[in-house]
Amino acid sequence: MIFGKKQPISKLEDVLPSCWKLLHQGVGNFRHPFYRPVLTTMDGNKPEVRTVILRGFSETDRTLICHCDVRTPKVSQIRDNPRVSWLFYHPEKWIQLRFSGTAWVHTDDETAGSQWKKVRQTSRINYCAEIPPGLPAEKPTSGLPDFLRDTTSKLFDNTKARKNFAVIVCRFDEMDWLWLKLTGHCRAKFHWEDHRINASWVIP
Ligand SMILES: Cc1cc2nc3c(=O)[nH]c(=O)nc-3n(C[C@H](O)[C@H](O)[C@H](O)COP(=O)(O)O)c2cc1C
Repeated sequence: MIFGKKQPISKLEDVLPSCWKLLHQGVGNFRHPFYRPVLTTMDGNKPEVRTVILRGFSETDRTLICHCDVRTPKVSQIRDNPRVSWLFYHPEKWIQLRFSGTAWVHTDDETAGSQWKKVRQTSRINYCAEIPPGLPAEKPTSGLPDFLRDTTSKLFDNTKARKNFAVIVCRFDEMDWLWLKLTGHCRAKFHWEDHRINASWVIP
């Protein structure tokens, strides 16, 4: 029997619900460590990592969701190679989760539309850069037009921002769970094939 501070975990089946709980807590709660996972894509044969905000999670659909500017390199990387990984770490619980799966970029469909409705007005400004993200600039700049840089975000054109908005939806098929403990670490792997799940403890 393995004991956590609050949740004793003795069976493989207990691992997943404890992970789902943390992921649900992470969505929309900026104080939660799972709010800021790391998403990895492949740029050819070079892995690219970056922090993103977790915008959605569903254990039923096995999806992890984040938002981005459609002009960012990660979008073309996913279009070229949809295999991605996600990394989460909870520094108080000492739990690391690693996911891998297949990602899709949504721009003009219902998924993108419903996610756009959830983006606060103050955050929509992030999609207003005139210069596409990642391009070189002569000086430090947000890339926002002058009139937006110095004024309130109420003035900007939502239609333009919406055009630059994209949603990355990843359906994961693997999860690696690692729980660091002073008395001996503990690790388990999960692999989904269609609706079947293979799970096993592994040596950390
Ligand atoms: C705390 C934090 C949260 C971030 N959240 C996002 C996000 O949700 N979406 C996003 O596209 N970039 C986000 N970024 C910026 C990315 O890490 C990255 O710099 C940017 O998206 C460009 O990535 P790319 O060039 O690999 O596409 C965040 C950065 C930090 C530090």
